[in-house]
Amino acid sequence: MLRVFRLAYVHFGCSDVSAMVHYYTEVMGLTLTEEAEGRAYLSTSFDHHNVVLSPSSAPGLKGFGLQLVPEISVRDALTALRNMGITGEMKADSLPAIPEIVRFTDLDGFEVDLFSQMEATAPGFRQQGIVPNKVGHLSLRVQDAKRSVEYYKQFGFVNTDWIESFFGFMTCNRDHHVLNFCTSDRKGMHHLAFELRDYSHLVRSMDSLSKHQIPVIWGPSRHGAGHNIATYHRDPEGNMIELFTDADVFIPELNMFEPRPWHETIPQRPRVWGTDECITRWGTGFEEALV
Ligand SMILES: [Fe+2]
Repeated sequence: MLRVFRLAYVHFGCSDVSAMVHYYTEVMGLTLTEEAEGRAYLSTSFDHHNVVLSPSSAPGLKGFGLQLVPEISVRDALTALRNMGITGEMKADSLPAIPEIVRFTDLDGFEVDLFSQMEATAPGFRQQGIVPNKVGHLSLRVQDAKRSVEYYKQFGFVNTDWIESFFGFMTCNRDHHVLNFCTSDRKGMHHLAFELRDYSHLVRSMDSLSKHQIPVIWGPSRHGAGHNIATYHRDPEGNMIELFTDADVFIPELNMFEPRPWHETIPQRPRVWGTDECITRWGTGFEEALV
């Protein structure tokens, strides 16, 4: 079976790449590692890129890259895709720092790259901007969340929680979720989330957004599924960006999350949540609905 272990990068098409580069460097605190053929590549600290920005007349999320576990080669992945009835295309040197990828289009039209190696440019953490730990998770609007959850199980993802039957959470490592899927009439990204170090970092990040006149549109509050403390804002092209900390850590061997004092049950296991109990555990009201 195919198996991936992390979400390494996301790719946005942009109407104004330079405005997006300014946001991802000066506001988010990522490092611009390379610009080539109109594209910009940005790193949170270690990889050559975790965010790719390219010019597009149809802005928004184009796709994302998932890294294969070491024992599965890119060529193995191509064969496995073929056996799964998915058409993949092998590409050499199509992205800087990644020698080979297999690219396929998923059920909802997102371009998914599978790869084994990415050169570690390792620019380190910047000294200015929000400077997240990493890209935490990617949330997608899809035609049918149940169908997407079953589809991504083929890549080694495990279903952790649900909100009712329309929002499914999946992980391929110990993070509560790496991908999640929201059934929606609209196609596109729901949000991209960056992990911060702790709650004080989250508060400082909101002060930083304020200095850049970027309003927080929801939060901070603690979610149910994942128990992350989250805030949301929009990047210059309207993509919703989550900043979070304190997310649940999954123990797949025990099918439970590492116990935390704020959990509703000990042990806390994957479950189905009601929408209202899941969106905020603090009972706080916000003007803008998240789902
Ligand atoms: Fe999220």
